[in-house]
Amino acid sequence: MSVSEKVGKSMAEGSWIRRMFEEAAALKQRYGEENVFDLSLGNPVMEPPPEFERQLRTLAENPIPGMHRYMENAGYPETRAAVAAQLSLETGLKFTPGEIIMTCGAAGALNVVLKTILNRGDEVIIFAPYFAEYIDYISNHDGVVKVLPTDEQFMPKLDVLEAAIGAKTKAVIINSPNNPSGAVYHEDLVHRLGKLLHEKEVQYGIQLLLISDEAYRKIIYDGLEYPPVWPHYSQSIIVTSHSKDLALPGERIGYIAVHPDCSQREELVDGFIYCNRTLGFVNASALMQHIVRHLQQVTVPVVDYQKKRDFLYDHLIGMGYSVIKPRGAFYMFPKSPLEDDVAFVRKLQQWRVLTVPGRGFGSPGYFRISYCVDDRTLEGSLGGFQKAAQEFNYASQEFG
Ligand SMILES: Cc1ncc(COP(=O)(O)O)c(C=O)c1O
Repeated sequence: MSVSEKVGKSMAEGSWIRRMFEEAAALKQRYGEENVFDLSLGNPVMEPPPEFERQLRTLAENPIPGMHRYMENAGYPETRAAVAAQLSLETGLKFTPGEIIMTCGAAGALNVVLKTILNRGDEVIIFAPYFAEYIDYISNHDGVVKVLPTDEQFMPKLDVLEAAIGAKTKAVIINSPNNPSGAVYHEDLVHRLGKLLHEKEVQYGIQLLLISDEAYRKIIYDGLEYPPVWPHYSQSIIVTSHSKDLALPGERIGYIAVHPDCSQREELVDGFIYCNRTLGFVNASALMQHIVRHLQQVTVPVVDYQKKRDFLYDHLIGMGYSVIKPRGAFYMFPKSPLEDDVAFVRKLQQWRVLTVPGRGFGSPGYFRISYCVDDRTLEGSLGGFQKAAQEFNYASQEFG
């Protein structure tokens, strides 16, 4: 076998996901792309905002000498300063470039953080439903993943967390707005979470880091204010990117920010810079760093995503589906009418609607819909959802 045992095992465990993608590709080939309603990917339909094009053109027409060279592994000081200024504005805390490391997206940021902090066997706690890649990222760096359930609104259960933290716990990852549920944590929950983590640090005499994955921080609806983790816990690190707020997932640009009062902050930041280099990222894209430093206050029109959410949510509820209304990100996570979520997702495929089974996110019995697609695809999917609802007597049956 040419691949390692570890990679081979992970690939085999994920093979049903691959099979589903292959089946989806076959459907598209058979019926034509336009007749298949693909709601399976979190690839934003929107183009980057016009300010992005303007900056890109300005750079192309007035290149900065040396703008494509290597740089400090943490990123350009000007870009880190722009991110720090924006975070200071949003939070009232005093961030400096010394707390910011530019990365290849939030995925790169997560790998850098986990590589830096984990000793073999250290535990990292995550909450289901979770972004599936967390499992691989934690395993990449020899950590042990501990998955905890959430409540019926997809909020972490703090009593369960309290019992789960032990002397081997190194970090807790939270993700709000959440992929796949769209849940946004309340400020009160974040506050109680911070208090609990502090108590556990004291109890075990450990440094317990809170890693807040904020890839969707700006994609938030209904006039909600995003409750930042910073005021509630000083051992916080955020990982985020411009993949979603500027619709640039292919450009791989994001950052790590460390709480200015985090203990051993300098050592951590040095570790992140070292790992950014030695994991082979070296530094985040130079071109993108030149651009996003001017775009810290720019976001795609979130209201357009909110309209898509409302359209889909209202129709699904009308058909009898059981859905918690998402407050952010661009996913919906309804209960599967069939206990077997893989079977249900296959059923939807019969009507050429592509979704992802909840077990891919650690929550069997649900399925994920991505609604960051064009309106034609959303509208086209309704027939399939309706037929599935009818087949499972949804409209007339309470479903628990
Ligand atoms: C919750 C979450 N975290 C991290 C990422 C990775 O994002 P990026 O493209 O910035 O690496 C994603 C991507 O979909 C995500 O959904």
